[in-house]
Amino acid sequence: MSKDTSVLLDEKRVFKANYRIVEEAHVKNWEAEIEKGQDLEKYWSEKAEQFEWFEKWDKVLDESKKPFYKWFTNGKINLSYNAVDRWVFTDKRNKVAILYANENGEERKLTYYELYREVNKMANALKNLGIKKGDTVSMYLPMCPELLISMLACTRIGALHSVVYSGLSVGAFVERMNDSNAKVLITADGTYRRGKIIDLKKIADEALLQCSTIEAVVVVQHAGNPITISELSGREIFYDTLIDGESDECPVEEMDAEDPLFLLYTSGSTGKPKGVLHTTAGYMVGVATTLKNVFDIHDGDLWWCTGDIGWITGHSYAIYGPLLLGTTTMIYEGAPDYPDPGAWWKIVEKYGVTKLYTAPTAIRHLMRYGSKHPNLYNLSSLKILGSVGEPMNPEAWMWLYKNVGKEKTPIMDTWWQTETGMHMIAPLPISPLKPGTPTLPLPGIDADVVDENGDPVAPGKGGYLVIKKPWPAMFRTLYKDEKRYIDVYWNKIPGGVYHAGDIARKDEDGYIWIQGRSDDVLNIAGHRVGTSEVESAFVSHPAVVECAVIGKSDPIKGQVIKSFIILKEGYQLNTKLIENLQKHVRYELGPVAVLGEIQQVDKLPKTRSGKIMRRILRAQEEGEDLGDTSTLED
Ligand code: WT7
Repeated sequence: MSKDTSVLLDEKRVFKANYRIVEEAHVKNWEAEIEKGQDLEKYWSEKAEQFEWFEKWDKVLDESKKPFYKWFTNGKINLSYNAVDRWVFTDKRNKVAILYANENGEERKLTYYELYREVNKMANALKNLGIKKGDTVSMYLPMCPELLISMLACTRIGALHSVVYSGLSVGAFVERMNDSNAKVLITADGTYRRGKIIDLKKIADEALLQCSTIEAVVVVQHAGNPITISELSGREIFYDTLIDGESDECPVEEMDAEDPLFLLYTSGSTGKPKGVLHTTAGYMVGVATTLKNVFDIHDGDLWWCTGDIGWITGHSYAIYGPLLLGTTTMIYEGAPDYPDPGAWWKIVEKYGVTKLYTAPTAIRHLMRYGSKHPNLYNLSSLKILGSVGEPMNPEAWMWLYKNVGKEKTPIMDTWWQTETGMHMIAPLPISPLKPGTPTLPLPGIDADVVDENGDPVAPGKGGYLVIKKPWPAMFRTLYKDEKRYIDVYWNKIPGGVYHAGDIARKDEDGYIWIQGRSDDVLNIAGHRVGTSEVESAFVSHPAVVECAVIGKSDPIKGQVIKSFIILKEGYQLNTKLIENLQKHVRYELGPVAVLGEIQQVDKLPKTRSGKIMRRILRAQEEGEDLGDTSTLED
């Protein structure tokens, strides 16, 4: 592919922060913070000072074995201690740490002190099950307090957790459990999903038949599902029985800064899932700093990250980030539109959520129902909104900004990955925002758009998104697969830079526009075209709510754009609308956007984390094998 992307979404709207936001912000001077971030070691060591260390580090960044970077070498610290114990000795002792609510209107609150006691009991219980520092505990649990308690119990005693999203199928679950050599599995009697109870224990039983490493199975009685456990097997026990009588004091493991913290699997389009390994101190510094600055966390906040804890979003920003800052984190078990499309807004009103962090897929979904639902509730507690996971279509951004934020709350579109552990490209609340871009690399982060030789490309031209300097929350390797770690991420682009796998372009202000995964890129008459800009152009048409595009082989043009669209209620795809759409997209994107067939669909294939799986559409279109479908939603 020689020519560069010439399909550009021409988004000119700019939104400046209002005085209220600027007045409150931790970072008031963006340029000064960027300047400080130039000196990596100084910048990140200052951020590391916020924690209680058992022993100070002797080197901030060790680059002697690239790309196996080390941060805060020889420092001794514990995440769980800093996220829980540290607050118990302050006036946050009786502050709510975890606020759990679900689709049935039930709630549970745990203060920092209560959380402390629960974590200690569970830590002792895990030890009694034979879990030692370095062992792995697998979790297949709903969004429930026991999941957070179990994760914090692991990190307290130096065990790794490997959380498997509770919506994944048996096959995907088995693969992850086996690869991680997990010794204990923690699961539950069920999870609530749209008025039904999904029996997680049943799925776990099926998975356990194919797993040889698990020595004990702990079952949380969460959903009132009357299950029995096979006590005969000698390895199954209810969570409450397990912790009953355990002491609420368990010594904290002094972890080396570089000791493994957790495993989290992320699927590639081919091959087995990748076991992303994060380590202790750098991860803590990265997530706490970014959450504090990007979402401007203060003591009075009620923080709600809607992402499931089964994904990195939940690890970094539903549990560890907020607790490391001593804030209250809302954990919600339920869909955005059940029992009705106002479900989330009702929660915001009821509890007074101040910061809401969600995903484009959820916003596009809720957009379908129009502005009626958010308008039924008082959303004035909201101060900052945020998004992660996919490119935010400008139309979805505007919808959220107008209907939920009432044009007062900035939207933090954050670009990052399971591998990066923390936000990388994102605005600060004081930044001028443009709908559809995560704006600029954060202070201390060196991200760029380059060509295949590693040379920066001119503004407006498409290229590969890379990270040029190490960052503290970076993953350290792929579990048991160093070769794949090097091949996939570090050897693709010359210059020893991290290859993120996305294509992007910068605009004249340096703002980075993510155009899609490089695997999904289209090649139209020699032009490289990102999926996201074509899709956003479709979504900006009043009849369209969601869209996916793929390149379809064409004997003459090489590839043509095939589009799959979901229409708003009341619209039907006919010749007139097709013509209209073609004109609209061509107007938005310019002449390169020659559209082939437009097909109306009810649903798009998505991963269970809500990302559109264009590869499935491609395979279907070309009559090829679908490949790995274990993370496909339906
Ligand atoms: C990929 C990483 C990090 C939490 C959830 C996803 C896409 C993520 C954005 C954004 C455009 C985005 C990228 C990235 N992505 N955030 N703000 N704008 N694209 O984690 O499953 O590891 O996926 O998600 O393609 O590479 P993940």
